[in-house]
Amino acid sequence: MEHFPAFFALKGRPALVVGGGAAAARKARLLSDAGAAVSVVAPALDHEMEALIERGLVRHRNGTFAADDLDGQTLAIAASGGVALDEAVSEAAQARGVPVNVVDAPRLSTFIMPAVVRRDPVTVAVSTGGAAPVLARAIRASIEALLPANLGRLARFADGFRGAVKATHGDEVGRRRFWERFFAGPIAAAVLAGDERWARERMLDAVNRRPAAESGGGSVALVGAGPGDADLLTVRALRLLEEADVIVHDRLIGPDVLDRARRDARRIDVGKRAGAAAMSQERINALLLREARAGRRVVRLKGGDPFIFGRGGEEAEYLRGHGVHVSIVPGITAATGCAAIAGIPLTHRDHVQALTFVTGRGRDGDPDVDWAGLARGRQTIVVYMGRAAAERIAGRLMAAGMDPATPAAMIVNATLAGQRVETAPLVRLGAVAGGEGGGRANEGPSLFIIGEVVRHADAWSEATRAPALLQAVGV
Ligand SMILES: C[S@@+](CC[C@H](N)C(=O)[O-])C[C@H]1O[C@@H](n2cnc3c(N)ncnc32)[C@H](O)[C@@H]1O
Repeated sequence: MEHFPAFFALKGRPALVVGGGAAAARKARLLSDAGAAVSVVAPALDHEMEALIERGLVRHRNGTFAADDLDGQTLAIAASGGVALDEAVSEAAQARGVPVNVVDAPRLSTFIMPAVVRRDPVTVAVSTGGAAPVLARAIRASIEALLPANLGRLARFADGFRGAVKATHGDEVGRRRFWERFFAGPIAAAVLAGDERWARERMLDAVNRRPAAESGGGSVALVGAGPGDADLLTVRALRLLEEADVIVHDRLIGPDVLDRARRDARRIDVGKRAGAAAMSQERINALLLREARAGRRVVRLKGGDPFIFGRGGEEAEYLRGHGVHVSIVPGITAATGCAAIAGIPLTHRDHVQALTFVTGRGRDGDPDVDWAGLARGRQTIVVYMGRAAAERIAGRLMAAGMDPATPAAMIVNATLAGQRVETAPLVRLGAVAGGEGGGRANEGPSLFIIGEVVRHADAWSEATRAPALLQAVGV
């Protein structure tokens, strides 16, 4: 080991930074975050350092470094950018026994600064002993992606119960077991998901050994998998997939997404195939409940966003009603995925004041939709699950007064292999979709965007350019 890893306690203690540039400002800010009383010595300051001084986080002595600036300092950082000055700071600090770091000069330093991942109060420090700072930063980036954003909140939550757990769990082994169960269980999962109220209630039960805490240690996360491309999963979705014991997923979830999950997680496909019966909603609910009650971490993986035409609400309500903790992880919904690949802004200040998502399929067939309201214009309409009913939907909109020339787009397999965008005026939407019944409806999921914004699609300008070109050459 090249260096001894340790953390300085700097709260209220003096620390010196020599230099007024951007590198010095970054160090001064870190020291201030750690609670140090930071002084900066420099004849000139850049705007970042000036901002720290203005906010009262740093005291400034205008001038050049003198050895007695080090008197009483807990540590010093030389970041002047001048080799001779930084060397002088290092020499003077070492002569006085003040720990010193010279930026980018490990040989002149008695301590080095690691790359840091912060989830205060949790701190992860990465060091390559000064050998490869860029590698340290790459490692930090990997750890950043791995650690939940709310990890600090979890540490503070646990800290708040330490005394109570000590009082109720007398022996050390029992206490350790308690905390191991806590960090692997649903209460910690709830804190990480931002649901501290539920977690606090359950924690009180657990600390006081009340039966409610014993009723199944599992949890369910309703996770949005986005429109298909695995790179569009959220960081939280990825983390939950890596931790899951069981993944209950829909048919639209592709192998690329499932490949991101823990290898030995059990995968259960409950999806519907066109026409064929899939697992009923009641059986899916019962399955989720059974798995959670068996103490498993269940990820219910749904295409797009779980709360947009995904029955996420029904599942969450059922599970919560049975006392299971449910967290919701939003995903990129098909509308935004499709809009992005087609180059269609869903809103535009010039011509769109509203955006409406509708389903092309109601509970018992036709959706219960206010067609006249939708036909009023100055809005974008996105139709999910509308392929088979495209002709009817276009007909209803036109009958309600929508201009037959309104631009419309059909996007198939967005973000997946074989993605395709077709545009046409509303009057031709049914034909584009393959007529009544949707023609090649089995080629993959498809979605419609209707409204003036479709004019921004690359496919629209190609479709409108083609006839213009033909006219120009006299055909
Ligand atoms: C049951 S809904 C689920 C919607 C999902 N919860 C969401 O937020 O995107 C399924 C419909 O979403 C649309 N869809 C989902 N993924 C799609 C994709 N990659 N390309 C086009 N449409 C998609 C289609 O309209 C499909 O029929």
